Amino acid sequence: MSVSQSAVHLVNHLGHDYLRQALENDVRTGLTSTPKWLPPKWFYDAAGSDLFSQITRLPEYYPTRRELAILRREALDIATRSGADTLVELGSGTSEKTVLLLDALSSTGTLRTYTPVDVDAVTLGDAARRLAARYPGLAVQAVCADFEHHLALLPREGRRMVAFLGGTIGNLDPAAREVFLKELRGTLRSGDTFLLGADLVKDTGRLVAAYDDAAGVTAAFNRNVLHVVNRELDADFEPDAFDHVAIYDARQDWIEMRLRASRAMRVRVGGLGLTVPFAAGEEMRTEISAKFRPEGLRKELAAAGFTVNHHYTDPTGDFSLVLARA
Ligand SMILES: C[S@@+](CC[C@H](N)C(=O)[O-])C[C@H]1O[C@@H](n2cnc3c(N)ncnc32)[C@H](O)[C@@H]1O
Repeated sequence: MSVSQSAVHLVNHLGHDYLRQALENDVRTGLTSTPKWLPPKWFYDAAGSDLFSQITRLPEYYPTRRELAILRREALDIATRSGADTLVELGSGTSEKTVLLLDALSSTGTLRTYTPVDVDAVTLGDAARRLAARYPGLAVQAVCADFEHHLALLPREGRRMVAFLGGTIGNLDPAAREVFLKELRGTLRSGDTFLLGADLVKDTGRLVAAYDDAAGVTAAFNRNVLHVVNRELDADFEPDAFDHVAIYDARQDWIEMRLRASRAMRVRVGGLGLTVPFAAGEEMRTEISAKFRPEGLRKELAAAGFTVNHHYTDPTGDFSLVLARA
């Protein structure tokens, strides 16, 4: 489906049938596995995106503030080095930080097109309209798509910088990251750039607090996946019967978010004709958020055919932005 509104053009690769099929496959696979799991992309309906926006403003959640600080200081340098006329942003969400890149690319005089890409069509459309109004000469070509499946379908015109901010890359496990990075590299031309925001390994207490805030917003975000499955697949999860769990696995260098059944129960997923037993205390993984070391990032990017052009970090060394060249 393709919809045009003034300077906003929206292409949707996630029609109702596609989404339904993908959700059915993921939920059937995840809930019948041992241990159970659900992929994080299903957090993000409009309510989930709103909860994520709230998370970015929490005192414990340092990544957004750190990435913003780097962008405030370095966006012009990034824009100049990239020479991009087209900014493609994967997992763009509300595109709040993006204005710093768009301002910098405007000021270097190259900017023509912004292509935000997200699974949440509502948040994507809102952000695309807001940015089209803010940058009158900018062509906004929004794409509702899954960056794990649809990279090959993204527009390829212009000299591109692909931004992947917020540490979202950490939601992919190492094998999925390898596939993702190779596929992304395959869609780029020599000279195009990739701007990757990655959270760095640090003190475990601060890492866990960032995913287990005192106000319980991350817990609500975590449980939102159960609301999505209830609504879309006619399931009868009782979200309040699941406790939010965030642990740091120091061997894997990643945070795991889980939902722990507070008692034994059976959950009916009507849309799949499935009944799923949970034991008291059983945990279901809903997200990993990998933390990186600069050398590891460089190696993963190099293995996919990228050369690191510049590595930016904030004064505390909490977060990094890597500008890599295809
Ligand atoms: C952690 S949030 C980051 C949002 C924003 N980039 C930021 O830095 O604040 C992840 C974003 O990626 C989107 N997303 C998650 N999985 C996705 C997928 N497989 N394909 C496309 N978008 C995805 C979510 O809807 C959400 O907007």
